[in-house]
Amino acid sequence: MTNTIQINQDRLWTTLMELGNIGLNSDPSNGVSRLSLSKEDLEGREYLIRLMKKDGLEVRVDEIGNIIGKYQGMDRKAPSVLTGSHIDTVFQGGKFDGALGVLGALEAVRTIKESGITLSHSIEIISFTDEEGTRFGTGYIGSRGFIGELDEKDLQLTDESGLTYKEALRNGNLNPENYKKAAIKPDQIKAFVEMHIEQGRVLEDNNLGVGIVTSIQGPVWLEVELDGTTDHAGATPMNIRRDASLGMAELMLEVEKIAKQYQGVGTVGKVKVEPGGVNVVPGKAIFSIDLRHGDKEQRNAMVARIYHTVQEVKVRRGLKGEIRVKKEVDPAACSEEIVQVLDEVCKERNIPTMKLACGAGHDSLILSKITKMGMIFVRSKNGISHHPREWTSKEDCVRGTEVLLHTLLRLAR
Ligand code: HGY
Ligand code: MN
Ligand code: MN
Repeated sequence: MTNTIQINQDRLWTTLMELGNIGLNSDPSNGVSRLSLSKEDLEGREYLIRLMKKDGLEVRVDEIGNIIGKYQGMDRKAPSVLTGSHIDTVFQGGKFDGALGVLGALEAVRTIKESGITLSHSIEIISFTDEEGTRFGTGYIGSRGFIGELDEKDLQLTDESGLTYKEALRNGNLNPENYKKAAIKPDQIKAFVEMHIEQGRVLEDNNLGVGIVTSIQGPVWLEVELDGTTDHAGATPMNIRRDASLGMAELMLEVEKIAKQYQGVGTVGKVKVEPGGVNVVPGKAIFSIDLRHGDKEQRNAMVARIYHTVQEVKVRRGLKGEIRVKKEVDPAACSEEIVQVLDEVCKERNIPTMKLACGAGHDSLILSKITKMGMIFVRSKNGISHHPREWTSKEDCVRGTEVLLHTLLRLAR
């Protein structure tokens, strides 16, 4: 029976496009912006809740805004099989990052419900609040709250306007005062499986639509502030300047050098120079550093090199300043048991696949701390993501969802 059930391809695609239109720029070439708890994100959340209710799931929204739709299994005491991802996006992002993992899970569970198959374990579909961290600068807020790792300082993070996370949650009619209540007990969850677009080129280079993730890189996000002296750009002699932006420039190139040297990755994605006049030597530079590596020791060595170089640049250029750690998540290996299940499902369904490591970070990194975790990757066209041209074909979305459906059936049986 289970071999014959088929997801409804058009229904899946319609939901992906409908959600993708929420927060879509009036000029579509500027992509989708649904920054966490923004007006657009709140609209996307309402859309998802409506879908889950229409599908007859038990829907709850926890204290930090995680949206959870439950398909009740026969054994109410058995731990749930958890699946899902996030629906917040980066600024000017695409329609598939996160959304495919949530809407694909919804289509898989819809199909299971329609087939009348009864399962021992409940299946819970979760959309985690603020996976990206674009607005408040750290990310994984929902998943960290879900495993009980969030603390007050996270809720005091502010966006560019100075609004705190806590206020943003309140504005979204959530009650962050009791955010500790969102934490679940590890024995409530049997496993977490996340379907996600690859956001790289490996599957495309191997002409495959679906991949099985073996491990996930661990990101560190730093915010570096350099303070020099604001001066006149014409009248101040070069030898007495304390130019914060030139200190930043040296460090930007150092990020690239260190990443290549350690075979990791690193970039400076956000920069701010003050006061910001063409004819003013900048007295302040604030910039982000995103460093990642599949191996924790190597990643920590990269970070140590950055600290060392910041200190050296400050002394040589007469600058002051500090480094603030905004995110630090260890790399994680996927559960061999879940990898095995995914592998068997792909073989059974004659879906060619490969195993691969994951470069991007995901809520799966956080869930791996409390339960068996596995990830299904779906091909990204030209490996593009975090970009308006992010694209995954309908066929690949369907194939990935088929793998997720049969994996959930096995785990929840
Ligand atoms: O940063 C990441 O890798 C993910 O897209 N949040
Ligand atoms: Mn994502
Ligand atoms: Mn992303």
